[in-house]
Amino acid sequence: MTSQEENFMRKIEADEKIEPKDWMPEAYRKNLIRQMSQHAHSEVIGMQPEGNWITRAPSLRRKAVLLSKVQDEAGHGLYLYSATETLGISRAELIAALQSGEAKYASIFNYPTLTWGDVGAIGWLVDGAAIVNQVSLQRTSYGPYSRGMIRICKEESFHQRQGYEALLALAKGSPEQKQMAQDSLNRFYWPALMMFGPHDSESAHSAKSMEWKIKRETNDDLRQKFIDQTVPQIEVLGLEHPDKEIKWNEERGHYDAGEIDWDEFYSVINGNGHCNRQRVEHHIAAHDEGTWVRDAITAYNEKKNAKKAQ
Ligand code: ACO
Repeated sequence: MTSQEENFMRKIEADEKIEPKDWMPEAYRKNLIRQMSQHAHSEVIGMQPEGNWITRAPSLRRKAVLLSKVQDEAGHGLYLYSATETLGISRAELIAALQSGEAKYASIFNYPTLTWGDVGAIGWLVDGAAIVNQVSLQRTSYGPYSRGMIRICKEESFHQRQGYEALLALAKGSPEQKQMAQDSLNRFYWPALMMFGPHDSESAHSAKSMEWKIKRETNDDLRQKFIDQTVPQIEVLGLEHPDKEIKWNEERGHYDAGEIDWDEFYSVINGNGHCNRQRVEHHIAAHDEGTWVRDAITAYNEKKNAKKAQ
């Protein structure tokens, strides 16, 4: 081990943060770029399924809340792209990887939002699963990522509550509304569990990411936390649990759960979910439409710099 490597590992072991100008192994940098940029892409692509309901929200209050939530997700994407850029890669390169299909984003956003209940289910389950993961990432070893997570978690927790509250209103409403809530829960529950990634035994990056403290808890441990916290929430809603095998295990102190459909998971992350093509095509179209804005900013900055140089 070189002295640089030793110093890096000493910091990791002492829970000191690694900062952009610090020496880091190339594989650490690459792994972070991969995870952080996929995280950023997820925030940005995640605006689409919910954005789909802004014009159809059932009241002005719900519409205002949804608008600001979707806007927050854009903000999260921007913090995360900026944090990733500190690792020496440009935003343009990251976006090109998303648009070519080289970089992944969270599988959950390839499912369609068919009803208003789905907007509630996304806030509650999808943002809820994201928080469970992101709370642990607040302690990640890379400084800019860790600090970004602290701010993002505060906003996500508002997102989760607004989703739960929207679903609670449906669950306590008319029989048709309650059925809508149940249907959304049924469709989003399993894909939310898939957000935590493959089982630890199948996870390609976990071992190294845990050693380097990029990840602080494993995919299965985080998923178990989410499963456990969701059971009483479903009870309060008065809905049926979508997993018929869910059962409290006194010995483990956790719920035992049924198995995820891993064929579906791999099919979705490999580009064959309901909405994969649509999501990326929409991103490309929106990005193209924004070309004039980026050109204008570049021209303005060039003018300003030329004036400064005079
Ligand atoms: N959706 C899409 N791809 C996934 C998912 C998922 N739910 N889970 C795993 N994968 C991909 C990984 O990105 C990796 O692909 P790659 O090698 O092409 O990059 C592959 O499957 C193997 O999985 P792992 O080795 O377990 O990958 P990793 O160690 O990165 O763990 C995890 C996956 C848990 C998602 C991790 O990357 C992470 O914590 N990311 C940050 C959080 C995040 O991205 N959240 C996004 C949703 S939150 C939101 O936007 C509201």
